[in-house]
Amino acid sequence: MVVAEVPKLASAAEYFFKMGVEGKRFRPTVLLLMATALNVQISKPASEGVADMFSTELRTRLQSIAEITEMIHVASLLHDDVLDDADTRRGIGSLNFVMGNKISVLAGDFLLSRACITLASLKNTEVVSLIATAVEHLVTGETMQMSSSAEERSSMDYYLQKTYYKTASLISNSCKSIALLTGQTTEVALLAYEYGKNLGLAFQLIDDVLDFTGTSSSLGKGSLSDIRHGIVTAPILYAIEEFPELRSVVDRGLDNPENMDLALEYLGKSHGIQRTRELAAKHASLASAAIPCQRTMTRMFKDPDGHLKN
Ligand code: FPP
Ligand code: MG
Repeated sequence: MVVAEVPKLASAAEYFFKMGVEGKRFRPTVLLLMATALNVQISKPASEGVADMFSTELRTRLQSIAEITEMIHVASLLHDDVLDDADTRRGIGSLNFVMGNKISVLAGDFLLSRACITLASLKNTEVVSLIATAVEHLVTGETMQMSSSAEERSSMDYYLQKTYYKTASLISNSCKSIALLTGQTTEVALLAYEYGKNLGLAFQLIDDVLDFTGTSSSLGKGSLSDIRHGIVTAPILYAIEEFPELRSVVDRGLDNPENMDLALEYLGKSHGIQRTRELAAKHASLASAAIPCQRTMTRMFKDPDGHLKN
């Protein structure tokens, strides 16, 4: 899917799809698990052969959602590394560091356009709209992060909204797309969305903790990267609740090394890391709470032969 006519563009677009640097593949894994959980027989097959053809075609469509989501995710990382002036990603030099900003932006655009072509081939306007909304949310979240006021930077609501846009929207809308493509009811599709949203929020909250507690080699990118860029995440926001004087340190700018050291000192004295982990656990359990419901609802809409009725 990332084959390009121009060799330089091809090698740039493939950069994070190569063996060893493909990352955790968190999103496609979740989506394929969601597909397996929901891939129920939708109508009574005329014969075994037709049933096989049907399930093969459906499986291919669901795999396309996983691939589209991963391409959009990698595209956003290529652009993000340019914006953050990053030098490492996934334990190797970031693409902007190795090949330059211009080719990185173009490689991101290329991946995005490939994702659009595959999305269009699914011929499902609702799914196109969900995935396009997730792309809009990525851009909105990134812009919220880079252009926040002092008030917004210290607000937990603002942080959670930005986190939904930057991380949870793509996985939640993709989970919902999987549900729609398997012909599930609106209720089940909403539960799939809730599952993805809460899983995405939990994932990002833990990622924000790891930025403080992980090492550069375990993360494959620089640690303390958020705070160094003046980005306020949940651990610091909770620390401000315990030590309101930290707010003025944050307002003076965490990108200043003195302020950063002071903020880290406050964080060490606070329960910020622990409370962030607790919030992540809450979202993880909300995500898993959506799954048993999903099974119950799927059963509710099946006829006596076990076929789903919509
Ligand atoms: C990682 O953020 C970045 C994102 C989750 C999304 C970035 C989105 C854009 C740059 C908008 C453009 C979108 C597309 C689809 C081209 P981070 O810096 O917090 O995490 P990091 O530590 O992994 O860099
Ligand atoms: Mg970044």
